[in-house]
Parts: sequence; structure tokens; C-alpha cells
Amino acid sequence: MADKIVFTRGVPPPEAFPTEELGACFDAAVRENPGVVLQYGQQPGYAPLREELAREYGVSPQEILIGNGSLQLQDLVSSYLVKAGAAVYTEQPSYDRAIKTFRRRGARAVGIPLEEDGIIIERLEAALRREVPAFLYLVPDFQNPAGATISLEKRRRVVELADEYGFWVIEDIPYRKLRYEGEDIPLLREIDPSHVITMSSFSKLLSPGIRVGFMISPENLINEVTALGEDTYLSPVLPTQAAVAEYLRRGLLGPNIERLKDLYTPRWKTMSGAVRRELPGAQAFIPSGGFFVSVMLPEDANTQNLAGRAKDIGLVLTPGAAFFADPEEGEKAEGDRFVRLPFCAVTPEQIEEGVRRLASLV
Ligand SMILES: Cc1ncc(COP(=O)(O)O)c(C=O)c1O
Repeated sequence: MADKIVFTRGVPPPEAFPTEELGACFDAAVRENPGVVLQYGQQPGYAPLREELAREYGVSPQEILIGNGSLQLQDLVSSYLVKAGAAVYTEQPSYDRAIKTFRRRGARAVGIPLEEDGIIIERLEAALRREVPAFLYLVPDFQNPAGATISLEKRRRVVELADEYGFWVIEDIPYRKLRYEGEDIPLLREIDPSHVITMSSFSKLLSPGIRVGFMISPENLINEVTALGEDTYLSPVLPTQAAVAEYLRRGLLGPNIERLKDLYTPRWKTMSGAVRRELPGAQAFIPSGGFFVSVMLPEDANTQNLAGRAKDIGLVLTPGAAFFADPEEGEKAEGDRFVRLPFCAVTPEQIEEGVRRLASLV
């Protein structure tokens, strides 16, 4: 069999890690403040890192909670906000682990169809007229899995709807700072923070293994979720949070992000070009940043057991259906036709060959 090409992993490659710098920051962080960093405590997160994030996002430290990766915070927020059987709305498709988490906490995860400029607002409005969800989960910038980015106009409308109907919006932004072209679009919280929970993470900017993620929301929600966290893990992992604080204090994050963009930009360009060239009949989502290109294959494409047939020719794909929540009323989930194409942990040569193999199957 030809060399295996893995299009399943939305993770940074090993060469992305700033190993030496991060190692030095760990060392300094533990030695400088062992009484705090090696002890129980700091339940809402390591105070200097909370303060740093508060400055960056223009909020008070009391509106920040730092936990062991953002997925665990998503889980805690879900367990607090979801009453059994309640609806949670997601983009369709959406991040597979988020869908799983919401379901495990008793929610009906319902997907609202997504276009290249974000969730279809008319479909969201129709769904809201039927039922108001516990929250709406969005990945507004370079979405996992599709690569879509929500336009400013749609962001404005989403926060208006959240105010009008009274539901929370989670904006999950781990890829936002990895923009390869164009200008940032304001965060939902910058438009109107009153119903917005912002979540992000250092997983894609430094390392996923350090498990440092955070959320920003009104203080009362932070306090409730902090208490749930304390009941779950007593206190968060502090040495990694302190190392991140030290990394930021030394001014290393900006240069590291530039280094990552230099590493990922050729991969992004190669994937975008290969998809346009090899899969011209597919509806492609070509993002301006992040980790993922994706395609919706044409209706007449051969999608029967696509992941299985791909494996036989040395191409590893995630079955598209994993990214689909329950379809909205009268809708058919198009999971079989959806293919996510993560490009950061594969070389340009692997990307070219992998997309060729995919095209040969459909
Ligand atoms: C949209 C999204 N949210 C959250 C996560 C998980 O982040 P963390 O490593 O901080 O738990 C990921 C990881 O792939 C992701 O794609």
C-alpha cells in the first residue's frame, strides 16, 4: 500500500511547539512562585494569567475562568446550562467533540445549516420561533470542521437574536489568531457581550498538551462554573498556567504566532489549490486561516463507505457524519458528503497526494 496519509488530525505538528522557550518558562514559573504554583488553590485560574487575559479582552479578571483546556470548560458550562432534554443549537456541521459533550449532558444537539459566511440566519430564526435553546454554540473564525468564518452582518444579527430571545451564545475561538490573509472581524462579545460566553485556548498557539483553556462571561456565570470545577478537579493544573503567564510576560506569543503562520501558510495554500483543482464539482470551504479546508461532495458523488475505501488506498479520513448534530425539522443531514481536510500536520507533498487519492474515490 502507498504511504499512509492522515487527514484526520486537527492537531499541531511537533515542529510547531516552542519547546525551548516553553521549557524555560516552566522552569522560571515553578521556581519563582512554588508556594502558589505547586499548591492547591487559584480555582478560577492562576491570578497573573487571569489578569493578562482580562487586559487583552478588556474585561475584569472576575469575568475570566482558566481551566484544563477549553473542552473541559465547555463540559462544565453545559452541565450548568443544560436541563435534560433542552435543545442546544450548533452550526451544521460542528466540532464533533462539542456535539458529544452537549449530548452527554442531556441536550438535544440540533444543527443549523452553515454557509461559507456562517450559520444561515433565516434558519436560526425559524428554529428560534419553534424553541429557544439553552445556548447556541458557534466557532466563528475558521470553523472546525468546515473552515467557515461568520460575517460581521451575521454576527450582529446573532447577538441581537440572543438579546431578543434570551439565550446564551458560546463563541469558541481557538483558531482566531491564526489568520493567513485579510482582517479580523470583531468578536461577538465586541458587538454586545451581554449574552456571550467566549472560549479559547492555548492548544493551537502553544501546545495542546499543556491543557490551558479559558472562558470569558459575566461574573455570576464564572462563579457558578468555577464552583463546578472545584467540585470536579479541586483546583486546576497551575504549573502550566504559570508557564503560559511567563510566556506572555516575556512577549513571546506574538513572535510564536508569526512563526506558526509561516509554517502553516504553504500548507493552507497547497490544500486550497489542490481541492479547487482535484475536486472542481464539490462545494469547497476555503478559509482565510485556521486548520481546516472542507468540501461538500456533489450529490452524485460516490460516498458509499468513503472512509473505508479511502483506508484501502492509504488515506485516513474522519467519516463526515461525526460532525453532524441532529438535523433541524424536515432536514436531511448531509454527513456522508462532507469531508474535513486538516492541513497543518501534513506536508505540502502529502496534501497534494492525499487530495488526489480522495478525488480518485468519488
Ligand atoms: C473548536 C474547538 N474547540 C475546542 C477545542 C479543544 O480545545 P482544548 O484543547 O483547549 O480543550 C478544539 C480542538 O480541536 C476545537 O477545534
